[in-house]
Amino acid sequence: MADPMMQPSPLLELNDLRMHFPIRKGAFRRVVGHVKAVDGVSLRVEDGETLGIVGESGCGKSTLARTVLRIYQPTSGEIRYRNRSGGTVDLAALSGSALDEIHRDLRIVFQDPQSSLNPRLPVIDIIGEVLSVNGLAKGRELEHRVADLM
Ligand SMILES: Nc1ncnc2c1ncn2[C@@H]1O[C@H](COP(=O)(O)OP(=O)(O)OP(=O)(O)O)[C@@H](O)[C@H]1O
Ligand SMILES: [Mg+2]
Repeated sequence: MADPMMQPSPLLELNDLRMHFPIRKGAFRRVVGHVKAVDGVSLRVEDGETLGIVGESGCGKSTLARTVLRIYQPTSGEIRYRNRSGGTVDLAALSGSALDEIHRDLRIVFQDPQSSLNPRLPVIDIIGEVLSVNGLAKGRELEHRVADLM
């Protein structure tokens, strides 16, 4: 029997996450320093919770999001994520096909709508592309699923 005292692990938990970009100078592109865009972020997100991150321009909000989604390989720290099967994985340590699988669940809607939403495509194609690229639906079924999502 499940222990009623046992708390499920958070949906997402960041532990001391860092993303430092090297600054290169000169003909040999020597590393002369680092931009510490994300420098020791720890937080938790529970099921059903919405978290807003607020701060001045350039403080690292987008870099944090890109690092959590593993568009970047973090400099250090943990990104603990509870996946669909209930197991917790450290996204910071994943690579290759394991990462592709995670990207089916976790996505960014980027700030600039011109780069996220192609104005030449009908909405059904923009939303449906995710389903067709991942082999999740096609034809009539795809149309129905896009309509449901909308
Ligand atoms: N790929 C990169 N290489 C080097 N430095 C970067 C890179 N991406 C971001 N930075 C630097 O990291 C810092 C944080 O940038 P970021 O874009 O994450 O800020 P932001 O909080 O999203 O800002 P805004 O509110 O303007 O969107 C900035 O100093 C930026 O110049
Ligand atoms: Mg930003």
